Amino acid sequence: MRVVRNSAEMQTLAVERRSRGVTVALVPTMGALHEGHLSLVRLAHEHGDEVDVTLFVNPAQFGPGEDLSQYPRTFERDVELCRAAGVSTVFCPDVGQVYAADHSTQVAETRLSTGLCGAHRPGHFDGVVTVVAKLFNIMLPSSAVFGSKDFQQARVIRRMVRDLNFPVRIVLAPIVREPDGLAMSSRNRYLSAREREQALSISRALKGAEAEAADGALDTEALGKSVESAMDAAGLTVQYVVCVDADTLEPVARLERPVLLAVAAFIGKTRLIDNVVLDLAAGADPSQAGLTPVRQG
Ligand code: PAJ
Repeated sequence: MRVVRNSAEMQTLAVERRSRGVTVALVPTMGALHEGHLSLVRLAHEHGDEVDVTLFVNPAQFGPGEDLSQYPRTFERDVELCRAAGVSTVFCPDVGQVYAADHSTQVAETRLSTGLCGAHRPGHFDGVVTVVAKLFNIMLPSSAVFGSKDFQQARVIRRMVRDLNFPVRIVLAPIVREPDGLAMSSRNRYLSAREREQALSISRALKGAEAEAADGALDTEALGKSVESAMDAAGLTVQYVVCVDADTLEPVARLERPVLLAVAAFIGKTRLIDNVVLDLAAGADPSQAGLTPVRQG
């Protein structure tokens, strides 16, 4: 396994590899790898001859007052996990390798990124799509795997790929959860034992909504309210609970087509997100969440 820190060197390697006809599936991450990330790596092996992982905490996607400086960094461990997972190349640049000091170009997606997390984290998705576009240009993958834990992110990236004609297939992976239901996240390590317990209310509330939907509760406002009050009752500060069309991310009133029920909440200072896709046609099978086919774009 190669560990590359230099962008020019990485791009030269990628060009050379592509000229030999080798296809690459890329898993972009910010490191602090957990089983959720590793599930993406396993899926990536089905989509390319080689799998690359990027470890880069991207400052451009953090807002003022967010957790950029505390974001967990477990570099040595991440590299070993990648090695064990059969990764070919780990690209782990410094900020200066990714952003020229006088950089003045960025990518912006202007529709799918406006609601949900985008409404509360101004500039966040500009930072995400810009770095992903740059990583695609440096690494030249033929496909890239993203987790539906960050469902909106995956939709926004798919849209960017369609709109800007990137020759990259975006693959969506299901959410990996702890045995008790908490969605895995690098930020879970910020939680105290008590907060960890409180955080469970998120996945429990989503599961509850899923069961209500399976029982015929089709009104999204009522579903959203019951999710919100369950999280409230556990002492969380709810940032949003939304039911949107899983394809367009536009609000929907009734569960007549696949609906994304997405939440963001603070437990103390830690902001967590989670979601479930309610698709009555697919049955309310949680293992299907995030596997709902979503049109490219
Ligand atoms: P990061 O939060 O490190 O996540 C990297 C990838 O892992 C994302 O596609 C995310 O959706 C996926 N992931 C995280 N937790 C998961 C879980 N529990 N189950 C399944 N997949 C999970 O997302 C980012 O980094 C950044 O925004 C990035 C795309 C790398 C751009 O900087």
